[in-house]
Amino acid sequence: MKVGVVGTGYVGLVVGACLAETGNDVTCVDVDQKKIDGLKKNILPIFEPGLQDIVERTQREGRLVFSTDIVKAVVDTQVVFIAVGTPPDEDGSADLGHVLAVAEQIGKHANTEIVVVTKSTVPVGTAHKVWNAIDKHAKVPFHVCSNPEFLKEGAAVDDFLKPDRVVIGTSTVFSRQVMGELYAPFVRTGKPIIYMDIASAELTKYAANAMLATRISFMNEIANFCERVGADVDLVRKGIGSDARIGPSFLFPGPGYGGSCFPKDVQALLRTADQIGIPLHLVAAAEQANNRQKQILFQKVSAALGGNVSGARVALWGLAFKPNTDDMREAPALTLIDQLLDAGATVAAHDPAAAEEARRRLGDKVTLVDNMYEALTGADALVVVTDWNAYRNPDFARLKQALKRAIIVDGRNLYNGARLRESGFIYDCIGRSREAERVRQ
Ligand SMILES: NC(=O)c1ccc[n+]([C@@H]2O[C@H](COP(=O)([O-])OP(=O)(O)OC[C@H]3O[C@@H](n4cnc5c(N)ncnc54)[C@H](O)[C@@H]3O)[C@@H](O)[C@H]2O)c1
Repeated sequence: MKVGVVGTGYVGLVVGACLAETGNDVTCVDVDQKKIDGLKKNILPIFEPGLQDIVERTQREGRLVFSTDIVKAVVDTQVVFIAVGTPPDEDGSADLGHVLAVAEQIGKHANTEIVVVTKSTVPVGTAHKVWNAIDKHAKVPFHVCSNPEFLKEGAAVDDFLKPDRVVIGTSTVFSRQVMGELYAPFVRTGKPIIYMDIASAELTKYAANAMLATRISFMNEIANFCERVGADVDLVRKGIGSDARIGPSFLFPGPGYGGSCFPKDVQALLRTADQIGIPLHLVAAAEQANNRQKQILFQKVSAALGGNVSGARVALWGLAFKPNTDDMREAPALTLIDQLLDAGATVAAHDPAAAEEARRRLGDKVTLVDNMYEALTGADALVVVTDWNAYRNPDFARLKQALKRAIIVDGRNLYNGARLRESGFIYDCIGRSREAERVRQ
């Protein structure tokens, strides 16, 4: 099938590359000339495990083409995906400017019956707007579909090639058939394609993210509760996660959720809820809890430093909002860095993949180092912000030697607190009281 993908970011690039991998002829388009120039030379703008190989191979074999010209993604094309960003507007609602601009272009240039698929996360009702934008210019029959994307950054290729499910919102038999064919190679193990009406598909994406965000905020609040009552959130997590109705995933406490999706999608859903007059109290509470949780690392490091952060040097391990990605959008590390700098501290940071992105965002406000131990030299405290594998089992002797003061704030509960305290560290983490840690040891 000839496929177009408009918007070559985290989602568009993964979608385009994976569809090329299964034999389709894919043209990925972006307005960012530098990004497209790089991609033509196999220089990927993002870090995503497994993606480099697929892009190189499919490009070499001629099935994946990059361009800045949208016409190439639309002319003679059977399916075109809109995968551009939907950033939050000033009031938190999703800004549909890019999506609708692309829809108009598709209307102008389509020259054969075409299925237009909204891959970007968009509020309920957007498909009508997309339809109208295309219809203003269309000279050929077209179909609008909603096909929300559930990939997780850091595991995006795997998630796309082996999805838990594919959700397709359609209103015509033609588009249902075309989308079914396109996705057939990815659901051979029996994972479902769930067909539904377009509004339900659009809402499914927001409901999924709101549910996951709520789960994280719930566990973060339980973790804070644990600290006060002498309990250990890791044990509580195991205790509740083994209940089949609850399940073990997404129960790890931490410094609050970040990334390009949960914060903005939760906000956009709340905005839609306001507009239609159906309050979503739980989702609003999840967002508030997350805003509070994002302060927690600063509070903990400040407490460990005796309440005086001014003049301190703080080492950070991890800048990306989660491991295996270089994405720093809404990352808890950014909140912490702002607070530390405002309080008069200096920051040295390490991240296995996000250093370049950090340089772009932060300039010389923080010292970025290539070796994780280098960040510790002369630092008064270490804060572990992202749970990259490389941080799980460090050389604590080396760590103690490099740090000026042996303080660790473990934002991901990676270490054994009781043992670290025994060997002279001041140690704090999320939701594990000292008493509980001593008993566990
Ligand atoms: N990142 C994720 O994990 C994820 C997961 C599921 C869904 N989504 C959703 O997918 C959408 C895209 O997210 P992303 O993370 O890939 O964003 P991104 O910012 O990484 O990529 C968007 C790309 O679209 C390009 N673009 C903007 N306007 C354009 C135009 N008119 N024509 C061509 N290209 C244009 C930008 O230059 C950019 O490269 C969003 O709606 C997001 O909510 C993201």
